[in-house]
Amino acid sequence: MNKLVIRDLKKEDIEAIENIYALYWPDQKFRERLSSRLKDGSVACLVAENNGEVVGVSGFRKAPEHMIEFTKTNNPAELYILAVKDRQQGIGKALVEKALKDIKNLNYTEVVLYSGETHQDSWSFYDHLNFERVAPSTAPNGELGQIWRILV
Ligand SMILES: CC(C)(COP(=O)(O)OP(=O)(O)OC[C@H]1O[C@@H](n2cnc3c(N)ncnc32)[C@H](O)[C@@H]1OP(=O)(O)O)[C@@H](O)C(=O)NCCC(=O)NCCS
Repeated sequence: MNKLVIRDLKKEDIEAIENIYALYWPDQKFRERLSSRLKDGSVACLVAENNGEVVGVSGFRKAPEHMIEFTKTNNPAELYILAVKDRQQGIGKALVEKALKDIKNLNYTEVVLYSGETHQDSWSFYDHLNFERVAPSTAPNGELGQIWRILV
């Protein structure tokens, strides 16, 4: 029987997470930056584990300066990373729900996220989870995308 557990990141999860990134982000430099932020602890990371296998990852951090213009409250977090190995099995939703709970427990007041046009197929997922579309935006790397927000 499948048993999905959402838990904090352990050092030994990093390789499995890198393999999940590689499914969706072809840019190796970008993937290296993600990994270094997991390793240095600047992104708080959760993993989804199914029968002992790491099958998804979410990560959040204090919202960076360039996202503050999209926030409404005084202590925003950013949902910085979200990806699952196999889609449409409830794993992404479970990761987001646990991240939102942790974020609220840490006294953040809202969550913002950016998703680039290269990942447009995930945009309706955020709509479906009641995130509000705020505005189009260009990421620091120049990629066009969209910002979402949800109060916690
Ligand atoms: C976006 C992503 C994390 C969603 O995770 P997932 O595990 O496939 O989603 P879930 O199975 O938990 O879906 C939860 C709900 O959202 C719905 N949903 C999932 N993907 C959807 C989509 N692309 N559009 C609309 N609804 C979607 C599901 O049908 C489900 O609905 P229900 O709760 O009413 O039954 C996953 O598609 C993914 O890893 N994508 C590639 C990486 C990526 O693009 N990440 C985001 C970049 S910012």
